[in-house]
Amino acid sequence: MAVSGIVMLLYLIAHMIGNLKIFAGRESFNGYSEWIRTIGEPAVPAQTTLTIIRIVLLVAVVAHFWAAVSLWRQAKQARPQRYVTKKPVAQSYASRTMRWGGVIVGLFIVYHILDLTVGAVNPAGTDASPYDRAVAGFSNPFVTAVYVIALILLGMHLRHGIWSATQTLGQSNKRREKTVNLFALVFSVVLIGGFLIVPFSVLFGLVD
Ligand code: HEM
Repeated sequence: MAVSGIVMLLYLIAHMIGNLKIFAGRESFNGYSEWIRTIGEPAVPAQTTLTIIRIVLLVAVVAHFWAAVSLWRQAKQARPQRYVTKKPVAQSYASRTMRWGGVIVGLFIVYHILDLTVGAVNPAGTDASPYDRAVAGFSNPFVTAVYVIALILLGMHLRHGIWSATQTLGQSNKRREKTVNLFALVFSVVLIGGFLIVPFSVLFGLVD
């Protein structure tokens, strides 16, 4: 769970930074999209690097999902009957929404690829450039609202996930817990803030 999560997190950091190219204009943003497809050329055929990234991400998503299901099964086996009373005092909202939050983020990724990579559900359509797709999509408040909700859920998922990963990988103890929690919060807010700035800038006309 932790290792596949870290792989996806690294992708998210790069993706968020890459998205900020939208502020450099249409050519820069579309050029970046073209560059991802041509890395390594002519030493390797077109799209080789992108295909490798896609395979690594797909393996990470499947591993993450598989690990989540195994953990859920183990937890069920460890306690087959429900608690009579359950006081969620020691749990944060994020920790209680990991499963459904994860499923919703997974569904969002499918929608997002159909929207901005394929263009099938984007108002500008399949022939438009990535820049025009992003502007056409985020100009619609409903589309932006879907992204905002998914990104906030992703942020909560990451905050708890980063904390859990440090437990799993042995990087946390009682003394360090406070620092780890603060780091997880600041990291998630900065990452999600970096993503959110793009749809909001389009919606409010700063990017058009
Ligand atoms: C507002 C936030 C986001 C914006 C503006 C954005 C923008 C884009 C754009 C423009 C593309 C198409 C790139 C191209 O075809 O060259 C893309 C692809 C993609 N995005 Fe995002 N993205 C955002 C958030 C996310 C999030 C939160 C995730 C994951 C949880 C994500 C995962 C992906 C994936 C997996 C692809 C497909 C990459 C590929 O295989 O070609 N994106 N994004």
